[in-house]
Amino acid sequence: METVGVIGAGQMGAGIAQVSAQAGYRVLLSDVSRAQAEKGKAGIAKALDRLVAKEKIAADARDAALALIEPVESTDAMGEAALVIEAATEREAIKRAIFESVGRVLGPDAILASNTSSIPITRLAQATPDPARFVGVHFFNPVPVMGLIELIRGLATADATVARVEAYAQALGKRVVRANDAPGFIVNRVLMPMLNEACFALGEGVATIPDIDAACQLGLNHPMGPLTLADFIGLDTCLEITRVLFEGTGDPKFRPAPLLVKYVEAGWYGRKTKRGFYDYSGAEPVPTR
Ligand code: CAA
Repeated sequence: METVGVIGAGQMGAGIAQVSAQAGYRVLLSDVSRAQAEKGKAGIAKALDRLVAKEKIAADARDAALALIEPVESTDAMGEAALVIEAATEREAIKRAIFESVGRVLGPDAILASNTSSIPITRLAQATPDPARFVGVHFFNPVPVMGLIELIRGLATADATVARVEAYAQALGKRVVRANDAPGFIVNRVLMPMLNEACFALGEGVATIPDIDAACQLGLNHPMGPLTLADFIGLDTCLEITRVLFEGTGDPKFRPAPLLVKYVEAGWYGRKTKRGFYDYSGAEPVPTR
């Protein structure tokens, strides 16, 4: 499996392209246009420059990785890839449209994978040319730092597909865990109720934003407090995944916190909109309550 196609050159797609190239795979990177894919590659170049500056990698390793990444005009170029990973926006209609277009050029043995964090793999597989060669491969943000990949098999995913993607994930140096196609898989099933509960606690006036975060960061030894992490992931994404858990299980314990819903309705999505539980418009994040 030498050529990997990555569809989506945003934060997740660029991270996947970067770690794939660093592991020696040739990468075809696409987005809505070649310009967007080029922009993704420019971001990867900066990330690799930082690693060189910190003496984590040598300059020639950076150059070799960058040379392996080829921004392409569209998914039409993905015919050469043995594995195509979709890392586009977390909206089912967008992903389905991508699978239909890449499905027209996908090689007869090639595997199609989705980095979805919450959409059922079995359902998405229906939009792909061969559900036996479709699998979930869930990376974590920031991709170069986080050591985990969740592999999710749909009902029709073949054993050979799982084995080939597992070999790729291991070549990236990530620990692979296998999860069934249940809402939220493993990580989000456990994480989202915690982030949602922090929103309930804030909404009920249990404590302030910095105190909720400090309590979990220092009291649980987490790298970030839950409200900081929710802002980092995106409050819209957190709400989306919490709704998948709620609707997918029918269990009221997953109901979204009213405050989380309000923030999303206000367009306060976290870091990406410069306003979430913290205000990111200055040099340092400032708590908003
Ligand atoms: N890209 C690449 N490297 C990054 C990075 C990024 N965006 N952000 C930080 N790093 C690197 C830094 O360069 C630094 O590397 P060195 O130790 O080699 O110098 C290292 O990570 C630590 O960074 P910092 O010292 O700047 O800051 P930190 O210690 O606070 O770490 C963090 C930052 C790695 C993001 C850490 O806070 C953390 O692990 N937070 C939790 C992240 C998390 O839970 N992610 C999963 C979210 S859930 C998800 O992604 C799935 C989903 O479906 C929603």
